[in-house]
Amino acid sequence: MKLHLSLASLAGLTGLVSHASATAIALPRNPSPEEAAALALAPALHKRGSPDAPSGYTPAKVDCPSSRPTLRNGMTLSQEETSWLKSRRNVTVPAMRELLARLSITGFDSNSYFDKHASNDSALPNVAIGVSGGGYRAMLNGAGAVAAYDSRTGNSTGKGHLGGLLQSSTYLAGLSGGGWLVGSLYTNNWTSVQNIINTNTHYSGSLWNFENSIFEGPDTGGFQILDSAEYYNNLHDTVSAKADAGFETTLTDYWARALSFQLVNASDGGPAYTFSSIQDDAEFKKGNTPMPILVADERNPGETIISGNATNFEFTPWEMGSYDPTVFGFVPLRYVGSNFSAGSLPTNEACIRGFDNAAYVMGTSSSLFNQFLLNVNSTSVPSLLKGAITSVLEKVGQSEDDIASWEPNPFYGWNNQTNPNAADKQLTLVDGGEDLQNIPLTPLIQPLRNVDVIFAVDSSADTTDAVGANWPNGTALVATYERSLNASQANGTIFPSVPDQNTFVNLGLNNKPTMFGCDAGNFSSSTPIVVYVPNSPYVFNSNISTFTDTYTLGQRNAMIENGYDVATMGNGTVDSDWPACVGCAIMSRSWNRTGTAVPDICNQCFKRYCWDGTVNSTAPTPYQPTMRLQALSVTSAGLRRRAVPAAAAFLGAVGVTGALLL
Ligand SMILES: *[C@@H]1O[C@H](CO)[C@@H](O)[C@H](O)[C@H]1NC(C)=O
Ligand SMILES: *[C@@H]1O[C@H](CO)[C@@H](O)[C@H](O)[C@H]1NC(C)=O
Ligand SMILES: *[C@@H]1O[C@H](CO)[C@@H](O)[C@H](O)[C@H]1NC(C)=O
Ligand SMILES: *[C@@H]1O[C@H](CO)[C@@H](O)[C@H](O)[C@H]1NC(C)=O
Ligand SMILES: *[C@@H]1O[C@H](CO)[C@@H](O)[C@H](O)[C@H]1NC(C)=O
Ligand SMILES: *[C@@H]1O[C@H](CO)[C@@H](O)[C@H](O)[C@H]1NC(C)=O
Ligand SMILES: *[C@@H]1O[C@H](CO)[C@@H](O)[C@H](O)[C@H]1NC(C)=O
Ligand SMILES: *[C@@H]1O[C@H](CO)[C@@H](O)[C@H](O)[C@H]1NC(C)=O
Ligand SMILES: *[C@@H]1O[C@H](CO)[C@@H](O)[C@H](O)[C@H]1NC(C)=O
Ligand SMILES: *[C@@H]1O[C@H](CO)[C@@H](O)[C@H](O)[C@H]1NC(C)=O
Ligand SMILES: *[C@@H]1O[C@H](CO)[C@@H](O)[C@H](O)[C@H]1NC(C)=O
Ligand SMILES: *[C@@H]1O[C@H](CO)[C@@H](O)[C@H](O)[C@H]1NC(C)=O
Repeated sequence: MKLHLSLASLAGLTGLVSHASATAIALPRNPSPEEAAALALAPALHKRGSPDAPSGYTPAKVDCPSSRPTLRNGMTLSQEETSWLKSRRNVTVPAMRELLARLSITGFDSNSYFDKHASNDSALPNVAIGVSGGGYRAMLNGAGAVAAYDSRTGNSTGKGHLGGLLQSSTYLAGLSGGGWLVGSLYTNNWTSVQNIINTNTHYSGSLWNFENSIFEGPDTGGFQILDSAEYYNNLHDTVSAKADAGFETTLTDYWARALSFQLVNASDGGPAYTFSSIQDDAEFKKGNTPMPILVADERNPGETIISGNATNFEFTPWEMGSYDPTVFGFVPLRYVGSNFSAGSLPTNEACIRGFDNAAYVMGTSSSLFNQFLLNVNSTSVPSLLKGAITSVLEKVGQSEDDIASWEPNPFYGWNNQTNPNAADKQLTLVDGGEDLQNIPLTPLIQPLRNVDVIFAVDSSADTTDAVGANWPNGTALVATYERSLNASQANGTIFPSVPDQNTFVNLGLNNKPTMFGCDAGNFSSSTPIVVYVPNSPYVFNSNISTFTDTYTLGQRNAMIENGYDVATMGNGTVDSDWPACVGCAIMSRSWNRTGTAVPDICNQCFKRYCWDGTVNSTAPTPYQPTMRLQALSVTSAGLRRRAVPAAAAFLGAVGVTGALLL
């Protein structure tokens, strides 16, 4: 705490000192016996992503490293990723060995298979998980799936469960609401979903506490330090300080700061946590966690429509950039904010750090939710903040409500022939789902990454039928598939064929897990199998509207429990073969590489779960999925859906025509 104070004072940020010096865990003012007990039980959530920015939320000058930061092209993976993959491999292979033994695929001796290929682990499977967007609904349904895949979750390694799949994964990608989940786990020391739920009672702060909307801010009286007035001041002061330092600010900055209180650090909103700090975390470095990837879309200068060929950006702990043929380059994330030109940092330009605030990266991926802030006048937010938000709105105009400004553009003068933003000092990024690719698949289908199987958790709100609205219908997969057919933008990526959305609904492909690309014979072996895991009701109607921004703890936990059941098919109660079928999907490409015969049970699994090419594009009857198991007794009372008055018109203006985000 002393250190914080002196650093902040050195940086001349006296106005921020009181916030920056907030202790990580604030004590209840007058703890009741229950609070004291909760406090004693609560395992401290230590931070993994760390507060390493030089000056809190404000990007600031630092000494340049001896070799000045430069951009690289997209012909290869980064050196950092390449060497990290070796460490991760040493961790995923034993995890997979354990997982496959538990999934017990009849007729497959997994231990001898892993022994046989121990000396050549590129023969073994390479697993990835992608978590879709869709606001808090997507974050929570995704959290349930991640909890199911996580061997640290109680009971998750029992029969019928899938714990260990997360430990077996190389990549964990998130987009928009899915990015909140991914970013939050990494900025909280790779804690488990279950640990957050167990720790986060009414008494323990605002991490994943969505009982109050971001307008109200965290509750006081519990573990909180800031009261509402301090909370609003903090949002206002941190964003103003960034603007005063000469950086363009947008609604995304306010949105990011507010999100940060719920996702990064409950007490002071973690203004100094950077996404790039994850690269220095000891456990991540050792390969003990998957590699996080967040996704955003690029908006071309002067355009408001985000088309299916918009450049897809990815954020990793080391870099931001794109493998798309347009930008086809990467910048060290840690030094974004520096004034790069034509791929290098001119000698008269300083090195800047702290631009890549972790919540700003999450906020960029979810910039559509800036829309929440349009309600500012109907809330009790004090006039200081109302005025600040309104003035941003007036400055940028409605068509810019959803943007995140990454200025100075690190890709200025980079790949002039193909890069749409090469001549622009501002790089404009928007919500990763605005091109309708609402699952972060682009990074996972890059041939350089050699992914064999992607668990694609989809919580999109696609269906519009009055009774069965806000369920996914395959739109995200269709968008990625269509993009992969566009030779000019695919740049070597291949995606298995998927049918149209009517077929998804008619065949029930959106109502239970469905696999695509099972038949390696139809594709090059570098096409991953996609295990589509669509949100559906097992024990709770988890089709909560995207713009619902408050959940009671009971509703939150019910969403997560339902997501767990979605991923495990009710812990194997709906189909006791499901865990084995997951094992078959994991092994399939590896068996092909090693010329191993596919066990019978897997052939049955593939028959049951793989889309077989059948199409029925007739307009379906209204979608109305039924609850699969005994419903939890949690009412949906109290869920508050934000009226977002301008949202419909706005979504039309930016070309999001589907119901995806409403
Ligand atoms: C983070 O979690 C790891 C376990 O994964 C633990 O060993 C470490 O002590 C934690 N870090 C901090 C700063 O508490
Ligand atoms: C991976 O494990 C092998 C065998 O134990 C060891 O030789 C190698 O150094 C490890 N690699 C990394 C990057 O940890
Ligand atoms: C390792 O396995 C891969 C895939 O099966 C194969 O292409 C490669 O030749 C193998 N390498 C060695 C050294 O056996
Ligand atoms: C694990 O299973 C036991 C027995 O079914 C149950 O009592 C316990 O609540 C479960 N734990 C979790 C974390 O679900
Ligand atoms: C993207 O698509 C639009 C409309 O389909 C087209 O005008 C534009 O040239 C395309 N851009 C790229 C980079 O392919
Ligand atoms: C991807 O795009 C880059 C830049 O346009 C190009 O150099 C590269 O050859 C492309 N890769 C493939 C596999 O098409
Ligand atoms: C809030 O109300 C003020 C005063 O009526 C108005 O000028 C401003 O544009 C409104 N702001 C928003 C975000 O609607
Ligand atoms: C690339 O574009 C930048 C910005 O417009 C310009 O300054 C630079 O001269 C161009 N470089 C080349 C090689 O054309
Ligand atoms: C599928 O979702 C899209 C929006 O993503 C919607 O426009 C379309 O009507 C839906 N179709 C079906 C059959 O649910
Ligand atoms: C592996 O997949 C290829 C197509 O990529 C197919 O031709 C071949 O028959 C498969 N091999 C085995 C052993 O299944
Ligand atoms: C599946 O297991 C999880 C974790 O133990 C539990 O929360 C959930 O209720 C179980 N679901 C069913 C249908 O038993
Ligand atoms: C195709 O879907 C329609 C609408 O759901 C349904 O009425 C029809 O029976 C289906 N056709 C076939 C051949 O299954």
